[in-house]
Amino acid sequence: MNSWNDWQRSWDLQQQWYLPDREERFRVMLDLVEAVAGPAPRVLDLACGTGSISGRLFARLPEAVSTGVDLDPALLAIAGGHFADESRLTLVTADLRDPDWAAALPEGPYDAVLTATALHWLATDDLLRLYGDLAGLLRPGGLFLNADHTPEAGIPLLRAADDAFQQRRRERESAAGIHDWQGWWAAAAADPLLAEPVAARSMIYRDHKDGDVHPADWHTARLVEAGFREAGVAWRSVSDSLVAAVR
Ligand SMILES: C[S@@+](CC[C@H](N)C(=O)[O-])C[C@H]1O[C@@H](n2cnc3c(N)ncnc32)[C@H](O)[C@@H]1O
Repeated sequence: MNSWNDWQRSWDLQQQWYLPDREERFRVMLDLVEAVAGPAPRVLDLACGTGSISGRLFARLPEAVSTGVDLDPALLAIAGGHFADESRLTLVTADLRDPDWAAALPEGPYDAVLTATALHWLATDDLLRLYGDLAGLLRPGGLFLNADHTPEAGIPLLRAADDAFQQRRRERESAAGIHDWQGWWAAAAADPLLAEPVAARSMIYRDHKDGDVHPADWHTARLVEAGFREAGVAWRSVSDSLVAAVR
């Protein structure tokens, strides 16, 4: 049986298998949070999973506080176990597709809403409603930062070259024992520590379908329409970007 901390580390390795620059995008995120909100920001870690963003936030800015919100009982169990002695983190279970999802949050406003590799799970209608909700949760001048897949049209050669390169890297890492998504969930289901919440999440996500992906410029335009003062791209790779919007 693994410990909660083992599962936290193993989650990060699995996510890094998909996103080799994951730590770099978190670093850019936190640079902006510190620049805009100083040493003690109030943060919402949206679709927090195991709380990876909050963990990096506390390491970087020890006076920060964070609320992690997610729907997955297994990932929230890992977050709850790993951060058991961490008074700076509040965990909330909510479905971002539910228009009342924010009702259970500690009262705002927040200095920053941070999220990674999650909002592409949502259909466009739900995402647009969520962008409006986030504009209402942030203080004026607060930041929304979303690191996610944002495939661009018009660069098929670059995308194919990058895909092939990443595929070769993943094959090497798999041979060294790093789990992909399916392998990771199979290992989690086999651990008595996680078997119950993994069974519960299988029911919650049993009808899960991938949501919609859009290029970064689509997101920046929609964020301005949703009430953000400005929006732009703070970091990008061939396939992904960190979209940044100021309330
Ligand atoms: C790939 S994980 C990323 C987790 C974390 N942000 C990270 O970078 O490690 C995607 C997360 O989005 C969450 N998620 C997807 N749809 C959701 C929804 N409708 N409501 C709440 N959370 C959701 C999943 O449960 C999962 O934790």
